[in-house]
Amino acid sequence: MTSRSTILVTGATGNVGRQVVSQLVAARSGTVRTLTRTPATAVRTGQVDVRQGDLSDPVALEAAVAGADAVFLMWPFHSAEPADAVVDTIKCHARRVVFLSSGAVQDGLAAEQQHHPVGRSHARVERLIEESGLAWTRLRPSTFATNTLWWADQIRAGDVVQGAYGAVPMALLHEADIAAVAVRALVEAGHDRATYHLTGPEALTQAEQVRAIGQVLGRPLQWHELSRQEARRRLLADDSFPDAFVDPLLDGYADMLAAPHPAITHTVEAVTGTPARTYRAWVSDHAADFRM
Ligand SMILES: NC(=O)c1ccc[n+]([C@@H]2O[C@H](COP(=O)([O-])OP(=O)(O)OC[C@H]3O[C@@H](n4cnc5c(N)ncnc54)[C@H](OP(=O)(O)O)[C@@H]3O)[C@@H](O)[C@H]2O)c1
Repeated sequence: MTSRSTILVTGATGNVGRQVVSQLVAARSGTVRTLTRTPATAVRTGQVDVRQGDLSDPVALEAAVAGADAVFLMWPFHSAEPADAVVDTIKCHARRVVFLSSGAVQDGLAAEQQHHPVGRSHARVERLIEESGLAWTRLRPSTFATNTLWWADQIRAGDVVQGAYGAVPMALLHEADIAAVAVRALVEAGHDRATYHLTGPEALTQAEQVRAIGQVLGRPLQWHELSRQEARRRLLADDSFPDAFVDPLLDGYADMLAAPHPAITHTVEAVTGTPARTYRAWVSDHAADFRM
């Protein structure tokens, strides 16, 4: 990319996209443009060109992507249904795309054969991008540390976090590390046709994650194990959690419990030159979110 290039960031008000925008602005790598349905919540600096629109609206996407060289594509939908139109529109304008896919995508399986619904939709988008003629890089991150913000209400209310599958180990990722890899792939040469499997630097069970939050906050936090049925009932009653995600989430935990211990990749460091941040570092960055 030249210093005059324009990069469109989708999902720019989300966990990863917000970091991509800030890091691109800090890198002064050209013009940063964003597409959001809610411009009021977007990162706003003089260097960010915020466009309002829905990713699934071809007219809004066309207006946002016209003149852009590269796109950071985040997939906010539960299916791959709008993907043909989205990829077609991008390829008419941009030369490259960095796709935030998912570690749920399993190698060697076609999109239709993927076990997890997130794997199915993301694998289909990956394939469309591959067939589009665009230059591409795809990121397949493990579980985001931001998922543990789901516990914030319980932690503000007391010292116990209740949930199912407390023994599931996860190599949680800081959103800033995912974004740092995305930014390299957007602004540097050498990342074409790369699939980056991203993890954090250590695997911690959910019960250990709760203790780590307690250590950072200086509180004796503990995990309390619920049955799957009880956890399912509570998640379905939680208005902030989409019902459609409840069973896939719990199935994903059951699969992770049965699977071998998660492999730690060192891809964040290999791409950015800096090791992936620990979960404790993430908690420190988000400590205010857990405080009363
Ligand atoms: N959570 C995990 O553990 C995990 C692990 C691996 C992969 N992933 C993948 O990472 C992605 C989630 O990333 P994230 O956590 O950064 O997202 P997020 O924080 O949930 O934010 C969602 C973003 O999508 C935007 N958005 C939603 N619907 C939109 C639409 N119709 N048109 C345009 N923008 C829309 C929202 O923007 P506005 O509301 O402003 O429009 C917001 O910026 C998903 O694809 C997920 O499968 C997640």
